[in-house]
Amino acid sequence: MTARGRFVSFEGIDGAGKSTQIAFVENWLRGRGVDVLLTREPGGTPLGESLREMILHQPMQPRTETLLMFAARCEHVLTVIEPALAAGRWVLCDRFTDATFAYQAGGRGIPEADVATLARWVHPGLQPELTVLFDIEPAIAAARLARAQRSDRFEAEQRDFFTRVREHYLARARAEPQRFVVVDTSQDKPLVQARLVDTIGRLL
Ligand SMILES: Nc1ncnc2c1ncn2[C@@H]1O[C@H](COP(=O)(O)OP(=O)(O)O)[C@@H](O)[C@H]1O
Ligand SMILES: [Mg+2]
Repeated sequence: MTARGRFVSFEGIDGAGKSTQIAFVENWLRGRGVDVLLTREPGGTPLGESLREMILHQPMQPRTETLLMFAARCEHVLTVIEPALAAGRWVLCDRFTDATFAYQAGGRGIPEADVATLARWVHPGLQPELTVLFDIEPAIAAARLARAQRSDRFEAEQRDFFTRVREHYLARARAEPQRFVVVDTSQDKPLVQARLVDTIGRLL
């Protein structure tokens, strides 16, 4: 019987450095012979990527946004994440349900209890065993994104939106210290990478 794979998620506000560092972690694990699946939310499946386009670019109500996030997640969990874990692969996920608590509850004001209900329905019993939270001041993240010239419906939000999202992420990390590791990504990339090697290395 194949041992179940490990499920690790990466969280943080837009511009925190998730995509940059998750690629580093993927390569680092591959170099150690780990069978890694790198995926992202919203997205990760053909349907999920179509939903991602809508979510990131079409105006919609916060409730609609929340439901589409979970619709994409449902497809992702059932057709990609669970099969990969069952096959013994490591799943590195660029955002998971903590992002819905931070963005749709914290940022948009959807009641947390509603997000929790949807989470229980869509992925009962599934939770990352490790969640790396990239923490950074919204002003620094915004400056990095401005250099990269990116803008979707979230990246276009104001500073106070990201301040709320960040606070909700940090509150979740405080509530579940055994699952979360908080990494300060205002530091230079090599320092962040050293911290990641230390953190992820413990799972090997
Ligand atoms: N530690 C860092 N120091 C300086 N710039 C960084 C650092 N980490 C990421 N960046 C840059 O910040 C921008 C946003 O990073 P990205 O990985 O796309 O963030 P996210 O995926 O969290 O939105 C990119 O242009 C990236 O090169
Ligand atoms: Mg990214």
